[in-house]
Amino acid sequence: MLPAMNQDLWTAVDGYINEHLLTSDTALDEALAVSEAAGLPPIAITPNQGKLLQLLARIHGAHSILELGTLGGYSTIWLARALPQDGQLITLECDPRYAEVARANISSAGVADVVQVRVGPALQTVPELHAEGAGPFDMIFIDADKQNYPGYLEWALELSRVGTLIIGDNVVRAGAIIDPRADDPSFDDGGVAAGVRRFYELLAAEPRVSATAIQTVGAKGHDGFAVALVTAL
Ligand code: SAH
Ligand code: DHB
Ligand code: MG
Repeated sequence: MLPAMNQDLWTAVDGYINEHLLTSDTALDEALAVSEAAGLPPIAITPNQGKLLQLLARIHGAHSILELGTLGGYSTIWLARALPQDGQLITLECDPRYAEVARANISSAGVADVVQVRVGPALQTVPELHAEGAGPFDMIFIDADKQNYPGYLEWALELSRVGTLIIGDNVVRAGAIIDPRADDPSFDDGGVAAGVRRFYELLAAEPRVSATAIQTVGAKGHDGFAVALVTAL
């Protein structure tokens, strides 16, 4: 018998996929265990999503990656493992406690040489990076607070070249993005759905990118990734 509930089924299928196609990586498993023990919220991408991001980075031949939203460094480690030895990944996290957990996990995974964790609100740290002359990055993974996705997209473009791959996590939120209440200021989701909707509108109107989004189901429910290629600057 297959599990009846959709969520149980999606979780079981993720288990099947991971068992067959992902080789076990103690550092990645430990990163999740350490993050959980430290009380971080269980909102990292799933293992097969991590592998997808890693494959995209490899397909793209990425040498430099910018990540917004580090949490415990789980997605960071997946992405860092796609980089060559002289590659570079900068990951941005506003919570200093999460950043410390991430640094320890990144170090245990043996990728500290290619990863830099910067602490602060990304709407401050990204402009700082830009002012320092950082970038352009080959790939940018946007996964911090959803309310600020519109601003993150604008800054991502400032740190892009033609050919930069921009990925946004959580762009479906179990369908919340099409909830008609999302644009009502009294709708109590902290502006998440409105932020993500504005992100779509900007992508749609943006002549510098070609974009799509793909829905995902799995152990973390129903959500999705936006994928945008910078085609002109
Ligand atoms: N990329 C991680 C998950 C990130 S969860 C993974 O898949 O493993 C989102 C993260 O964004 C949280 O750690 C949260 O603290 C961080 N965040 C929230 N608001 C932020 C902001 N304004 N600037 C930077 N990071 C922020
Ligand atoms: C949640 C999930 C995420 O992937 C994220 O980046 C932030 C929050 C969540 O489920 O709340
Ligand atoms: Mg996310």
